[in-house]
Amino acid sequence: MSERSVNIQELTEHKLLWGDLMWVKKSGNSTRVGSCGEFVDLEFVNKLVEKEATLEMNSYINWKLVNEQLEVFKKLEVATNERERVELRDQFWIPFSSTFLGSEEGSYIDWFTICYRSFYELPKDIEDIYYLKNSDALKRSMALASMTTLLAFAMGHMNYSFLKKLFNSCLVADLDFVNKGMSEFHLRDLEKQRVEQSSAFESQLLKQFSHHGANVDQYLDQVTEGEFIFKHLVKLHHENLSLGNGPEGLWSSEVGDLAHIMSFVENLIPYVDFDLRKGDATGLLTDYISKLRGFERLKAMMRLEVGRTA
Ligand SMILES: [Fe+2]
Repeated sequence: MSERSVNIQELTEHKLLWGDLMWVKKSGNSTRVGSCGEFVDLEFVNKLVEKEATLEMNSYINWKLVNEQLEVFKKLEVATNERERVELRDQFWIPFSSTFLGSEEGSYIDWFTICYRSFYELPKDIEDIYYLKNSDALKRSMALASMTTLLAFAMGHMNYSFLKKLFNSCLVADLDFVNKGMSEFHLRDLEKQRVEQSSAFESQLLKQFSHHGANVDQYLDQVTEGEFIFKHLVKLHHENLSLGNGPEGLWSSEVGDLAHIMSFVENLIPYVDFDLRKGDATGLLTDYISKLRGFERLKAMMRLEVGRTA
């Protein structure tokens, strides 16, 4: 962990907190005013700054890893041929697999920061819906979007513009649910089903929201120029592909690899607060991932795709 002071410009530019934001009082006591992985509450922080508050960030991030990967995605944005893109994917794959399929460097917050700084482009009116109705849902959507986009890149979807649209599509996947009143209670219910690996939306309470992925076309049009593929993917994000009993009732063999990634990540990311600093240094995440539905298929596909570097 490293501590350093931060200013309001820095926070405005990079709203996703890369550590815990502390308000240090004149007495020397400090209070946490934002947690790692949340969006900073700029209005509140501005009020503190007006009172000449000192702000410090207790950062848990591995900046070396983050900066190297930000470079990879910058180069991907301007890459002009497939060979270049494949080489950039190789540079990404080794640290990514160390974090999530091995037991070495990296953590969730490193990779979420990389994705936020490389792909995030949510229109202000959509941000405001989250801020006004359920900001916890935005934090969870950031996690869903990051892991989906990174796995898509790992599996050979290497066009920067496509990945950016995929990332921002994931950010609006639950917006209909949020609009209709997704509460802390819904989040806890979803988490219970996720941990038990039961079929999503089994409870009466959630049945009414089962098709929320099919009701966000207006938001998807804002972030994807209306391309069908993103509407299709978001619609399928709760499919239970191994049992065929998700909202659309589709089976594993009936969808493409991106829909597999979406439903896999939907199962991976907790709905409740989780420690973004942990990464997989303990091996717990690897162990958890390996028990998830669809993991063997994903692993097999990734090995095919990255066989040259594995
Ligand atoms: Fe959802």
